[in-house]
Amino acid sequence: MKKRITALLTGLAVSLALAACGSSASAASSAPAPSSQPASSVPASSAVSSQAASEENAPASSAASSAASSEAAAPETESAGGTLVVYYSATGNTEEAAGYIAELTGGDLFELTPVDDYSNDDLRWTDPESRVSTEHDAIVAGETVTVELTAVTPENWDSYDTVFIGYPIWWGEAAWPVDGFVTGNDFTGKTVIPFCTSSSSPLGESGTLLAEMAGTGDWQEGHRFSSGVSESDVQEWLDGLGL
Ligand SMILES: Cc1cc2nc3c(=O)[nH]c(=O)nc-3n(C[C@H](O)[C@H](O)[C@H](O)COP(=O)(O)O)c2cc1C
Repeated sequence: MKKRITALLTGLAVSLALAACGSSASAASSAPAPSSQPASSVPASSAVSSQAASEENAPASSAASSAASSEAAAPETESAGGTLVVYYSATGNTEEAAGYIAELTGGDLFELTPVDDYSNDDLRWTDPESRVSTEHDAIVAGETVTVELTAVTPENWDSYDTVFIGYPIWWGEAAWPVDGFVTGNDFTGKTVIPFCTSSSSPLGESGTLLAEMAGTGDWQEGHRFSSGVSESDVQEWLDGLGL
């Protein structure tokens, strides 16, 4: 009899122990997952923004790969997006400005070079017999002066939607070696921004006259730099454009 009571008590003790284990396992599975942050500091509504914030803070390589994957997902289009800085420069001032614009915008440079380049003598604009003076006389007389260029259309022309075009001011107007570029290309769908350098003359109507000559493109007002243009002059102008 004593043995039966002992066996019954032992069985009861084992059952109680098993029941206790079962209930603690189910309590564990229903408990909130451990978090490194207190639950109260991460409201549900901030989940997306905190993910965005963690992406912002992600190392460059992971940000780049995320950008690359979204690029891969984007549909391929013919849309341009590139910036081109085209210029003619006889003595280097406009080239200086063009270089700063390209550097600061990440744009490509395209120099307009006449087949028959202008020598220093050709450029003596105070000499009535010089090449520029006789060409200018012809233009004033209503003749067309054509300066043949070594290349009129840049490679990948279609890939640019912003085109800066730079030139020196000659007798108050755009130096005519740019004319062949302006008349020889289709600017449809492109924003065109003229810029020039001069000793003292303003931009004047030079940009407007080029726009009329081109007949296509969304031509902006443009800007004149002094012959001694600096990078900060260009930076200030570009900042104002809000590109
Ligand atoms: C043929 C010729 C005509 C010029 N006419 C003017 C002018 O009308 N007004 C002016 O301020 N500067 C004039 N200049 C000075 C240039 O516009 C200035 O030096 C310019 O910065 C030159 O640019 P580049 O070095 O890119 O050729 C003239 C220069 C040349 C060679």
